[in-house]
Amino acid sequence: MGRDPHLPLAAVLPLLLLLLSSLAAAAAKSADEGAISDLAKSLSNLPSSWTSGGDVCTFDGITCERGGEGRVTAIRLGNKGVSGTLPPSLSSLTALTELDLEGNTLGGAFPSVAGLTGLTRLVLNDNWFASLPKDFLQDLPSLQYLSLENMPKLEPWSVSDAIVGSSSLETFAASNASITGAFPAVLANLTSLRSLRLSYNKLTGGLPAGLAELIALDSLQLNNQQLDGKLSGPINVIAAMTNLKVLWIQSNQFTGPIPDLSKSQLESFNVRDNMLTGVVPASLTGIKTLKNVSLTNNQFQGPMPEFNKGVVVELSTETQSRFCQTKPGPCDPLVTILFEVAAGFGYPYELAKTWNGNAPCSSTWIGIVCSSGKDLIIVNLPKRNLSGTISPAFAKLTGLQKLDLSDNHLTGEIPEDLATMPNLNLFDVTNNNLSGELPTFKPSVKVLAEGNRFGESGFLPSSLAGAHKNVGMIIGILIAVVLLVACVVLLVRHLRRKNSEKFGPVSTKGSPDESEMMKIQVVGINGNNNEDSAVQTELYSQVSSGSTNIAHMFESHGMQFSMEVLLKATNNFNEDCILGKGGFGVVYKGNLDGKLVAVKRCDSGVMGTKGQQEFMAEIDVLRKVRHRHLVGLLGYCTHGYERLLVYEYMSGGTLREHLCDLQKSGYTPLTWTQRMTIALDVARGIEYLHGLAQETFIHRDLKPSNILLDQDLRAKVSDFGLVKLANDTDKSMQTRVAGTFGYLAPEYATTGKVTTKVDVYAYGVILMEMLAGRKALDDSLPEDETHLVTIFRKSMLDKEKFRKFVDTTMELSAEAWKSLLEVADLARHCTAREPNQRPDMSHCVNRLSSLLDEWKPTDIDDDDDDECETSQMGLNQQLEKWRCDDFTISDSDTFSMSRKYN
Ligand SMILES: *[C@@H]1O[C@H](CO)[C@@H](O)[C@H](O)[C@H]1NC(C)=O
Ligand SMILES: *[C@@H]1O[C@H](CO)[C@@H](O)[C@H](O)[C@H]1NC(C)=O
Ligand SMILES: *[C@@H]1O[C@H](CO)[C@@H](O)[C@H](O)[C@H]1NC(C)=O
Ligand SMILES: *[C@@H]1O[C@H](CO)[C@@H](O)[C@H](O)[C@H]1NC(C)=O
Ligand SMILES: *[C@@H]1O[C@H](CO)[C@@H](O)[C@H](O)[C@H]1NC(C)=O
Repeated sequence: MGRDPHLPLAAVLPLLLLLLSSLAAAAAKSADEGAISDLAKSLSNLPSSWTSGGDVCTFDGITCERGGEGRVTAIRLGNKGVSGTLPPSLSSLTALTELDLEGNTLGGAFPSVAGLTGLTRLVLNDNWFASLPKDFLQDLPSLQYLSLENMPKLEPWSVSDAIVGSSSLETFAASNASITGAFPAVLANLTSLRSLRLSYNKLTGGLPAGLAELIALDSLQLNNQQLDGKLSGPINVIAAMTNLKVLWIQSNQFTGPIPDLSKSQLESFNVRDNMLTGVVPASLTGIKTLKNVSLTNNQFQGPMPEFNKGVVVELSTETQSRFCQTKPGPCDPLVTILFEVAAGFGYPYELAKTWNGNAPCSSTWIGIVCSSGKDLIIVNLPKRNLSGTISPAFAKLTGLQKLDLSDNHLTGEIPEDLATMPNLNLFDVTNNNLSGELPTFKPSVKVLAEGNRFGESGFLPSSLAGAHKNVGMIIGILIAVVLLVACVVLLVRHLRRKNSEKFGPVSTKGSPDESEMMKIQVVGINGNNNEDSAVQTELYSQVSSGSTNIAHMFESHGMQFSMEVLLKATNNFNEDCILGKGGFGVVYKGNLDGKLVAVKRCDSGVMGTKGQQEFMAEIDVLRKVRHRHLVGLLGYCTHGYERLLVYEYMSGGTLREHLCDLQKSGYTPLTWTQRMTIALDVARGIEYLHGLAQETFIHRDLKPSNILLDQDLRAKVSDFGLVKLANDTDKSMQTRVAGTFGYLAPEYATTGKVTTKVDVYAYGVILMEMLAGRKALDDSLPEDETHLVTIFRKSMLDKEKFRKFVDTTMELSAEAWKSLLEVADLARHCTAREPNQRPDMSHCVNRLSSLLDEWKPTDIDDDDDDECETSQMGLNQQLEKWRCDDFTISDSDTFSMSRKYN
């Protein structure tokens, strides 16, 4: 047969490949044979079939493929008394699925098996191997069963992350195998694991939280670690292992309580010889599948656990004696409360050592002091390394007078209920990691809370104590608040009786000063605590020496003053420094390195409820609101429950003093021009609040005592405690009514509905006061004349009557009288019953500025203003702004434009 030179390559190729592959198979087969023969050479005591020669597949313990090339798939030499070492050629048995060598005396270095991709079972336990290869557990993707137990000669090793490739691993048994170091966190990735046994190793440290992923696990044995540290920390991860039947973690140093096991199917639970604490949970005792429990030698607390019948319970008498009774049943109520408290801290071991039994007042419980009447009066746990949270259960300790948890690592929020504890007089949580808001404690409680993370402003230095020495004053304020609330309730009833549709005169009893201080607090539909910020300040006064640079007094993050600085500035809140008192706080004159400021110390009863966060939110509002006719906030301070606001200082007193308290204040009556100028200043300030700032603000408590004057009798509006941020889309909202009688718009007083027109109404009342030279409410007058708005509007009907009504201290030219009538008309419109009939503030500004232009076109020159004006400022820009280096004025401002200030 001649060779066909044209035989196509395509026909040859498959033949070639077939040839090659059969060659390769033959090579693999012969490699297998080589490896087995290597094995036969390096082992002794092998079964006799190994020495007879012939096909390796006939050797005892060797399994080969039936068909194909007959490759070696399994070596099973378990418990054959074989000794010797394993040859490196073992790794050429690439068809191997099972290598079982357990129970022999094999030694030396275990060779690499990396790349035996078909290997499903690797059983090496009970041998004398001395070391494992570097690539141990690498590239074994099919591995399902791995046993490495009882390797007494193995050098210390740790489980390589490479095991993550064995994603089908179901059993990892490696107890008594010299594993060292931290618990191998990589095991948490092997979610197919059903049995994990790492007992009798040298593992230390805590259980990785990731172990909670091992939900298929039915047996976890980590008992008896051999190094001193042992396994430690909490065992919370076991709560997630809902298929767990066996949990053996005895002889370690686990701490904390037994977690909630209500989803568990445990059969055998052994935690003996640990440092577990807390109440043995009903979720353990109630497990129906449970057969076997050992709790001995832990620091359990609380009632004696009661397991179901048939459960074998191991519980030494020593451990039993820790429970509050020798038989199941409830503890003393005080004990129950204290264990709730301890639960908040995660049942710390240090507490559990003494907090056991049923007698907390026996003076063995650390940190617990009782009165002779067995009333718990002191919990004293500073510097106890406590973590966790402050339990609301503290509030149930009604006899408690002193609670000191300072210098721990507590997190979370302080439960509100603690503020209601009747006998508490000291609450110290200094230097923890508490967040949220500090509740408002009664003024009689000394609260120390520095060094926490309340609100947003974070850590405050804890250098200072005794910021509230003047307990008497605080009690005084408290009484005032209580009286106010009582008055308010009476007044509201009075108001309701008087037909809420009609806004008639409201008569107030008591001195004029008191009535000025009256505030209505009616809960509206959106009862919002923000409104409680109604911090009333009656007056400021004295020299404002321009804008000296006070930037250096602020802390780096902006406007925060330290308590120390403010204590110094006010001479420890000296009574002589008091500028004014209101129902909601006291204003002190302060001297900050020569710069006079007004320090408003908000009463805790009002401000404290807001907590740090709300307070900071308010600061945020206040700091956005900056205008030459608004009293500027310079900074703030929070210290414990103290909330302080630092304002610029106004030297000219309040408008109220200039209008109706002349004899007391000694001021000369304001001229018509001065009044007009002040009216315009106020209108501009309010206009800015209403619309020129990027958002809409509503003052809600406009009145002459909130209008402060400088030495040139230019006015600024103060007291933004009442400012409420209105929604851009909906400029009305229902709130708690907060304001002052005489200035309350009728719809606001009756429904709590607040719009910018509420301020317009109050502004109208102020205009009337300035024209008439009398108060909005004057009880010294006959009843039908007490209410200025009513009598003013009535008198306007008759020109002659009105002329008598106008403040006679003003000398009015004919021209002045003409403009006065216009202002009176404006005031009348501003106080219209229906909000929509009242003009906008910008209308008032326009009317008054045109009137004033006719009057004294050059008098209104604001070049001497030292206020910077922007609609919004970041805290970081703040210092910059105070230096007034460069600023712009909103372009809608009618008489100023962008300019440089020097
Ligand atoms: C550890 O392994 C050795 C050798 O097999 C054995 O003698 C010893 O009892 C084992 N220890 C435990 C605690 O199982
Ligand atoms: C285990 O899983 C986590 C995420 O589930 C991953 O970040 C980590 O790298 C994995 N570990 C290893 C060794 O692959
Ligand atoms: C109880 O637990 C121990 C180990 O803690 C175990 O050896 C024993 O077999 C268990 N007994 C029953 C009845 O489950
Ligand atoms: C404090 O507790 C933490 C764990 O909450 C622990 O790691 C640490 O060692 C403890 N420190 C002291 C001094 O006890
Ligand atoms: C407070 O918490 C932060 C972060 O949570 C932590 O870095 C810091 O160490 C904690 N401080 C204390 C005193 O526990």
